Amino acid sequence: MSGRKITINSPQCRNCVCEYNRLEEARFWSRILQEHALFIKLGLPADQIELREEAQTFIDRFMELRRALNRVSRLEGRLLDDLINAVKAIIEFKAKLLRKLIQCRAEPGSNYPLLLDHIRREAERFLELLQMPVPQDPLTMLLEQEVFWLRIMKEHIEFIIHLLDPSERELINQAEESRRVFSRLLETARDFESMAKTRPRSFNTALRFTQDVINNTTALRDFKAAAFELAKLCEILGIVSTPLLLDHVRREADKFLDELNILLPEARRCSLNNQLDSEIVYKNQIQDLFPN
Ligand SMILES: [Fe+2]
Ligand SMILES: [Fe+2]
Repeated sequence: MSGRKITINSPQCRNCVCEYNRLEEARFWSRILQEHALFIKLGLPADQIELREEAQTFIDRFMELRRALNRVSRLEGRLLDDLINAVKAIIEFKAKLLRKLIQCRAEPGSNYPLLLDHIRREAERFLELLQMPVPQDPLTMLLEQEVFWLRIMKEHIEFIIHLLDPSERELINQAEESRRVFSRLLETARDFESMAKTRPRSFNTALRFTQDVINNTTALRDFKAAAFELAKLCEILGIVSTPLLLDHVRREADKFLDELNILLPEARRCSLNNQLDSEIVYKNQIQDLFPN
């Protein structure tokens, strides 16, 4: 299992307002995007020389950007512009490949259309964080994040199922069960995000639900870490192009968990006063109904 780097928190919260740390996000996502380019390259058919070369240029470009990001303490000016341009370019590259597959204008190799769409959405999210990191209240941010990441987690499981050899029945079974859990969690997160648009002062059910999300995501993270170890030891059958893919999806689960572990206590703290108010209302109702 690869060790976890100690990083600055992102998002960071103060006085019930949370905001992403742009530099920290950039360091995380630029590695992710560099690896996406590698996965695309490995998945392209051997005769797609130009596309493979284009993928390689993104690997090199993000490698350079990562080096620069590790040298600075603030993300601004030229570096920020270069990063935004690189992210926009890789989004367009992923979209172009996806369009070719949808229109049957290219052989898919082993890049599933949903995988291309998945990594395009991840890059879009990063671009949003880079362009306008909007400060939000912790509950809104929590639910917005859950809707984004639960879809990502569910799709990771779907990719793993389709990359495992059919003979890996036990692992496939385990992954199928996990897929059902994450489908339900995603649906619930979407419901709660919609309900939270009415701007309740507290939403304890969503906080209880988040604890459930943390527990299930921790289990999924451990499953991915175990699959990565098995792949490194050549103890798993399938068509995963590189074990790095399994470490990649494990890191994304850890990122989701890190964000939840910051936002959940903050959302709890910020809704505590409201909870006391609602307990008083409840006590008054009981007293009105059953005086003495
Ligand atoms: Fe990814
Ligand atoms: Fe992903």
